[in-house]
Amino acid sequence: MCGIVGYVGGYDCKDVLMEGLSKLEYRGYDSAGVALHMGRDITVVKAKGRLAVLKEKLESKNLPVCHCGIGHTRWATHGVPSDVNSHPHSTPRVSIVHNGIIENYGKLKEDLIKKGYEFVSETDTEVLVKLIDSCYTGDPLLALTRALALVRGSYGLAVLFKDFPDIVYAARRESPLIVGFGKGQNFVASDVPALLKYTREYAVLDEGDIAVLTRDKIDFYNEFGTPVEKNHLTADWDMEAAEKGGFPHFMLKEIYEQPEAIQKTVGPRVQNGLPDLRIPQLSDEALAKIGRVHLVACGTAMHAGMVGKTAIEKLARVPAVTEIASEFRYRDPILSPEDLVIIISQSGETSDTKAALELAKQRGCKVLAIVNVVGSSIARAADYVLYTYAGPEIAVASTKAYMVQLSVLYLFAMRLAMAKGKLDEAQARRLTAELLQTGEKINGILENCDQIKFLASKFMNASDLFFMGRGFDYALSLEASLKLKEISYIHSEAYAAGELKHGTISLIEQGTPVIALATQKDIYEKTISNIKETKSRGANTLLFTTQNQPVPDGVADYVVRLPEFEELFMPMLLIVPLQLFAYYVSVLRGCDVDKPRNLAKSVTVE
Ligand code: G6P
Repeated sequence: MCGIVGYVGGYDCKDVLMEGLSKLEYRGYDSAGVALHMGRDITVVKAKGRLAVLKEKLESKNLPVCHCGIGHTRWATHGVPSDVNSHPHSTPRVSIVHNGIIENYGKLKEDLIKKGYEFVSETDTEVLVKLIDSCYTGDPLLALTRALALVRGSYGLAVLFKDFPDIVYAARRESPLIVGFGKGQNFVASDVPALLKYTREYAVLDEGDIAVLTRDKIDFYNEFGTPVEKNHLTADWDMEAAEKGGFPHFMLKEIYEQPEAIQKTVGPRVQNGLPDLRIPQLSDEALAKIGRVHLVACGTAMHAGMVGKTAIEKLARVPAVTEIASEFRYRDPILSPEDLVIIISQSGETSDTKAALELAKQRGCKVLAIVNVVGSSIARAADYVLYTYAGPEIAVASTKAYMVQLSVLYLFAMRLAMAKGKLDEAQARRLTAELLQTGEKINGILENCDQIKFLASKFMNASDLFFMGRGFDYALSLEASLKLKEISYIHSEAYAAGELKHGTISLIEQGTPVIALATQKDIYEKTISNIKETKSRGANTLLFTTQNQPVPDGVADYVVRLPEFEELFMPMLLIVPLQLFAYYVSVLRGCDVDKPRNLAKSVTVE
């Protein structure tokens, strides 16, 4: 979603802002702009489209070197992508860039119009800058505290005041914002990768915080303007982790990083051959008291939750439900204090997921967060956190974050099963050893991906495609279908294999591509029957199964064989060729793999 960068320091701020914005491109955007302090004036340059368009526009203006400015990549919410709707938005005295949504912008706008303000864009951000302007009497901090007190909604903000040429102001509520500490220079950004070239030392703004950045220091205030202190954090991501490192796309790089990410995530949580969550409050005694588990998330993280649900129920025999966060938060869910709510999120900033977390806490449930970004809002709000150590995930289509979410959910399911007396130590030891083997197995799959490339070329021209499977394989069908849709723009549906005949089979005709996943032995034959049902109606079938499974004649046009492995962990193996399939189809169709249209990496609005 939208990205923010702000800078004050010795370098030419145009370069720093453009560099920072390029590191935030992955979040998804449709226009970009900068505001630059030029002595006692602010110059704004903005443009619809990619950063290259903005760069060209900036260069054509031959602007002098300047040392203080703010920049933005916009993902349209209020108003179409256009030059005029892009940020920064300004008055003669103030310029701002804004992430988030001002919910009461309609009422605020009416009041501002009565005061004589005129509006040119369709955005809520223009309302916000005019609101700040209307509260400005010479003291920027006062203007911000007064204006922001009138606002309902979410914001991450960077602000320039014309009269204060070497100061960047920043503020946040419900939209992530960090500041970075440099020597003789300081930064504000919506996300860590924008800072990594210059500094690894940063602080996270809390709800309502305002930061005042000059070259030599950053002062922090709460929403009432009272000074507050912030902890300094150090980013353990390096530049290399946020670069492509020889791969043509971030997505492919991230697919190949999965074995290492599993090792980093699982390794430290295995003690004496057994899962160890390393959270004192989640001791076996505490786990034994859990009555029900709710796994709540959005998108790919929700699909990870579906695998987690099945693993928890299979192993621990504890009832578990997977919930879409945007549904959960508004459906008045029935929760009891014995329930554990597991919130899953790569970014730790997804708006609906955060709201679900707050609701669970209000209802008296303990919340365990499975999060990738250290210090993110969800990580800070949860009672307990199991971090996934995937490093920065840049491609919009999530791969390695999903993988490590699965691995953590398996560890959790095993420990819960032990606490509940459903898994003895010997069984747990054996499963843990297998889980530690997944990385090696995945490396084997990655080394032999020519067949997947070939299959991608066979299916790349499909206009509609069906995935199906049962149990774990159904959860994987949903994720495989989502991956393909996200990056190749091919319409696809995922079906529980047994459900297809209750309607959707009417869509199967000569040549319709059907991809069946069948890695679970107890239900293998059932899925084979379902494939036959589609085959006999002319489907072009591709089956993913394991090495030794017999495939009856006339069922599959193509078969992909995965290594035989512990069935419980097959999702971690199976997802890899499915990710690669989506990736190669996208490449062959000439799509923008890492930055698919209309999508955002971190969805910080409802
Ligand atoms: C967006 C991304 C998805 C992601 C989802 C949840 O839609 O494009 O890839 O799965 O948000 O994000 P989270 O950061 O909470 O895992």
